[in-house]
Amino acid sequence: MPITYNEAAKSFKLTAKDTSYIMQVAPGGYLAHTYYGKALPDDDLTYLLRLEEPPFTPEKNLRELSSYMDCLPLEYPCFGIGDYREHAFSIVDGNGATAADLRYSSHRIYDGKPALEGLPATFANAPSEAQTLEITLEDKPAQLEVTLIYTAFTDLDVITRSLTVKNTGTDNVQLTRVYSACVDFDTDELDMITVNGSWARERHPERSPLHRGKQSVDSVKGESSHQSNPFTALCTHNADEDTGEVFGFNFVYSGNFLSEAEVTQFGRTRYVMGINSTDFGWLLGPGEIFTAPEVVMVYSDSGLGKMSRTFHDLYRNNLIRGEYRDKRRPILINNWEATYFNFNTEKLIQIAEQASKLGIEMLVMDDGWFGHRDSDNSSLGDWFVYEKKLEGGLKALVEKVNSFGMKFGIWFEPEMISPDSELYKEHPDWAIQIKGRPLTMSREQYVLDYSRKEVRDHIYGMMRKILDNANIEYIKWDMNRQITEPASNWLPKERQREIWHRYVLGVYDLMNRLTTDYPHILLENCSGGGARFDPGMLYFSPQIWCSDDTDAIERLKIQYGTSLCYPCSSMGAHVSDCPNHTVGRQTPFETRGHVAMVGTFGYELDVTKIPQEDRDAIPGQIEEFKKFNPLVRTGDHYRIGNVFEDDEWDAWMFVAKDKSEALLEFVQVLRRPNYHSRRIKLKGLDPAAYYYEESAPDRKYSGAALMQAGITVPEPWGDFRSVLRHFIRA
Ligand code: DGJ
Repeated sequence: MPITYNEAAKSFKLTAKDTSYIMQVAPGGYLAHTYYGKALPDDDLTYLLRLEEPPFTPEKNLRELSSYMDCLPLEYPCFGIGDYREHAFSIVDGNGATAADLRYSSHRIYDGKPALEGLPATFANAPSEAQTLEITLEDKPAQLEVTLIYTAFTDLDVITRSLTVKNTGTDNVQLTRVYSACVDFDTDELDMITVNGSWARERHPERSPLHRGKQSVDSVKGESSHQSNPFTALCTHNADEDTGEVFGFNFVYSGNFLSEAEVTQFGRTRYVMGINSTDFGWLLGPGEIFTAPEVVMVYSDSGLGKMSRTFHDLYRNNLIRGEYRDKRRPILINNWEATYFNFNTEKLIQIAEQASKLGIEMLVMDDGWFGHRDSDNSSLGDWFVYEKKLEGGLKALVEKVNSFGMKFGIWFEPEMISPDSELYKEHPDWAIQIKGRPLTMSREQYVLDYSRKEVRDHIYGMMRKILDNANIEYIKWDMNRQITEPASNWLPKERQREIWHRYVLGVYDLMNRLTTDYPHILLENCSGGGARFDPGMLYFSPQIWCSDDTDAIERLKIQYGTSLCYPCSSMGAHVSDCPNHTVGRQTPFETRGHVAMVGTFGYELDVTKIPQEDRDAIPGQIEEFKKFNPLVRTGDHYRIGNVFEDDEWDAWMFVAKDKSEALLEFVQVLRRPNYHSRRIKLKGLDPAAYYYEESAPDRKYSGAALMQAGITVPEPWGDFRSVLRHFIRA
């Protein structure tokens, strides 16, 4: 049984594969946290709470209740009642007071996993895949009910958390902080790993030991952001790829977030994750319910690698949806780096015709096909065809591309409005703005107020006209700026702080409508590169553009960091032209292909202009991608090298679930003079099995030897060279 309740001890035990998570209703009715980690036997573990140590429970020592509150490990700590560590929940009640006090009221356990109203979330494909525990806590004076929702997955070391807040009274209550998860660890001997960066260098991992006080990553930009990602791992100091304990947290949300660890006065760690409370507010009227987004928690007793593979399995099977979830994605060619805004029908047809002959399966027309857009300074919101560029119209263009045997995909940036647009002339109040203040521009555009249904309806109406007019089979949904002047022209003043969350809910609403009405369309999310690479987006789009930096060597870092939490098969990755448009680096065409093969794979170059030898290499590259893509999509990913620690090489593997084959990809960043070949230890193989390389079937290697002693990799001649090695079980 994944979830049990012990009536005598008033304790709950969740079992997710080899993980235990234990809670207990402590004296006073507070829901206390007892244990999170490797599976424990079904013994009486209540002693772990140390209720017999000072300051003792309220029953024994009411005069020191505040000290009790300040050291009791809590599942959902509130502001204002003596717990001075970071709190997860705060309100302004009907009297204007700010304390909240949640005590156990009831619980229920059931099979399966509930959906979350208006929010993306992981799901169980069958009720037997997961079990759910709902614990209702009550704040009687404030007349609030908070229901904590925990789901334990049966075959994965995954526990998810979310919650609802219900106003059971007759007064309005302002919610000022509603985090989704809090875990109190009984140690401060932990490191914090986050993935941070900027445009063109997203999700670079950083690791540091926790220290007294608070350390956090967050976003207040209205999206998960280039700078931070809603992922954090807390791990033991000795943890590496293969050993040590790791606790991974990921927020299934695409807006403002906070991920924070606090080391307390008693040498313990409180970890919280949720919607950032900076400028957050939600007015909860009588009878109304607020739902907090989901946090996914992954436990690994065998290092970061196992944590990542658990996230990958969960997201591939229990988050990503749609027709393309389990399918190879079409190999696309995108015209952005090929032409930027400077294209027309003729140019696109030239690219498509040439590409189709090489085996490329889809043309994606990027930014610049609508309104009168010739640069990034106009037309967002005018989702009608720019006839001057697309002479003959969109339908004719798509038909022509289809006649080459290719699919057609299109770019939208549906959340934005240019001041220079028909839409802005008609509806200037549709941009997010504060009346009486100038609007701050970014990329010469404003953000549409997606909290307003009429705005979403109007944009969707325009998109539908385009989608219904031509055979469109892919959409790239872009978002190229962040929110400023956060206010809405339709919300009353006491609800203005709801704009941030309502905006995200609005985006989800439109994505939901789009993916429901057009289930055959492959949706790729993008945000000025990879600023919205988060599980909220993965729920709607099975792939996300990883970064505008397409340089193969920069991508080693970006894809490494992204793989800590997100499956490789969801990473948008393209082969682009050299010198690379972001860093000016020259890399071999083959290496660019090998690095892009880790992800969804495609091309982003002018295929009519690249060197003939590169063009000639494309059909072979495509065959190679097709051959190995099933392994990338369904296999286990192992990081072998770490380009952050060693800038001379990188390597990773994909191993079939049944261990029957494995792909090793090795990239030599810088060639070393006068050395033996490198010896690299493989991972994930069957130690009892023998493997041979496809290129040399007569030479057999034992799985144990390949993992214990390694394989030799002769160093290729030159920098930025890559090698693929395919191992098959004999
Ligand atoms: C940012 C994206 O990341 C690029 O790929 C491209 O689509 C541009 N926007 C277009 O404006």
